[in-house]
Amino acid sequence: MNHQLNHEANYEDPGFSADVIRWQKQHGRHSLPWQQTRDAYKVWLSEIMLQQTQVTAVIPYYQRFLESFPTVQDLAAASSEQVMSHWSGLGYYTRARNLHKCAQQVVALYGGRFPSDPALLKELPGIGRSTAAAITAFSYGTRAAILDGNVKRVFARVFGVEGYPGAKPVEDGLWLRAEALLPEQDIESYTQGLMDLGATLCTRSSPGCPRCPLQQRCVAYASGRAAELPVRKPKKQQREKQAVMLVMLHEGQVLLEQRPDSGIWGGLLSLPELDGMQDVDDEPDALADAFPEVTRLAQQFGDVDTIEALPPFAHVFTHFKLNVMPIQFKMASRHDKIAESRHVWYPTQQIGDAPLPAPVKKLLQSLLAPSLWSV
Ligand code: ADE
Ligand code: SF4
Repeated sequence: MNHQLNHEANYEDPGFSADVIRWQKQHGRHSLPWQQTRDAYKVWLSEIMLQQTQVTAVIPYYQRFLESFPTVQDLAAASSEQVMSHWSGLGYYTRARNLHKCAQQVVALYGGRFPSDPALLKELPGIGRSTAAAITAFSYGTRAAILDGNVKRVFARVFGVEGYPGAKPVEDGLWLRAEALLPEQDIESYTQGLMDLGATLCTRSSPGCPRCPLQQRCVAYASGRAAELPVRKPKKQQREKQAVMLVMLHEGQVLLEQRPDSGIWGGLLSLPELDGMQDVDDEPDALADAFPEVTRLAQQFGDVDTIEALPPFAHVFTHFKLNVMPIQFKMASRHDKIAESRHVWYPTQQIGDAPLPAPVKKLLQSLLAPSLWSV
């Protein structure tokens, strides 16, 4: 028995779509302007507008667009200025630029006829996987799964999905469910029903569970957790890194190292580091273990006289915090030839002119005479 296969979830459940379809036909929305047509151009236009804008705000824009641009050819032939001025006020203007591009591609590639295959539609500007499915379901009755923000919320609640739906593995699982739950027939009512449930009943802050057709099968309802699901976006945890830096001093000079062009501090001069910057989580004991190794590193550049651990300090970047462990080596001598050409003995008198990263500058500032620094 293959345990891998054994653990593959079977998300199929014909009762789910049957409940959604029955409810949509009785209680769903039926007279929205874009429901009066199977013209893919009109359906596409409405779906793009509805991506990030409420129905009531969309309706007048939808109508004005169709009056000015009755066909995809008209829209493709319009000027950018015309398109943008019709969109003005709807927000998220990338949608308008993509809308115009998409119209031109549909004319150029498909003779003005939107493809009925969602995989082809999805390649066009501004059309994602869910939008492609909605357009083909409403225009051609194509059996394809939608998964917009509202549908994610409904699924997360009904199935008690614990992860944040924006996280890739969670989203992948939701797509598997969305595909598995598709009905054999009535894809239009089913697709519209999911949208209507999410928009009118299973709302973010006050779901109408008593009137919900999915109540009997809803994990969130059964466990009183509709308010906690879906799980909110986790706060980005501040990443922490640590670096052991060598401050090697010899006869009024300090050893600096050219940083590689790519990566943090690219092109700057900095202090040599032991193994670069480590994630604290990966290398919890790196600092305790550092002394023998760091001494060996220092000895590559000369004979060591004294070693002193300097006070550690932190430097906060946008995406992480760097904890620096500086170790100072007073060198008794130095080898004439430096192992790698990216190292340079730099006169401390001129260190104020050196292109140093802020925390390195901070460190050397505290060590060397303040009069050397211009700021
Ligand atoms: N939101 C996205 N698509 C929609 C549609 N077809 N009807 C109502 N709201 C929607
Ligand atoms: Fe949403 Fe409540 Fe229906 Fe569950 S029972 S799907 S939480 S409205």
